[in-house]
Amino acid sequence: MRAALSILDAEHRGYATVLRALSRHLEVVRAQPAATNHDLLSTILGYADSFMERFHHPKEDEYLFRALRSRTDEADEALLALQHEHATGPAVLRSLREALARSRGGSPDDLDAFAGGLERYIAEQQAHMRTEATLVLPLATRALQASDWEAIERAFRGHTDPFFGAGPLGRSASFFSPRFGSAPLEEA
Ligand SMILES: [Fe+2]
Ligand SMILES: [Fe+2]
Repeated sequence: MRAALSILDAEHRGYATVLRALSRHLEVVRAQPAATNHDLLSTILGYADSFMERFHHPKEDEYLFRALRSRTDEADEALLALQHEHATGPAVLRSLREALARSRGGSPDDLDAFAGGLERYIAEQQAHMRTEATLVLPLATRALQASDWEAIERAFRGHTDPFFGAGPLGRSASFFSPRFGSAPLEEA
């Protein structure tokens, strides 16, 4: 159980760092629109899409949530809402990335639209993780059996977080750097 929980926790902590970086860059977008770092924002949103949407959320659905449902109905309502957010997440992220691409044209309205979408995205993702951390994981520690945890651990060990998993320590710090966007990912 401990190994599976620590992987889940590590992925949540990594994503919380990503969301803090996005908040920091959102402040720049609003306070100094001309200093908006489109490349960096695009890289960070690409990470959210490639890692959280393609690995983390589907594996929560398939292993953690499914096991929890089989052991208790206590979290059914919350799991339904979380799963709906998992299902709609890729489309939300796609439209956010499209809004970012449009804002490269220099229109203040397009940049405003992107900033509004980004603010909503950050708030929704933070609330989503809060529900998992305060309701789902504590219930899972009480309700799941050793065999459930083994399956969850196997599933979550099957992928690597490109920024926080096996990558070089401190990599996420580069998300906060204004120069990050101009550097190739491998050298960041
Ligand atoms: Fe989730
Ligand atoms: Fe999660």
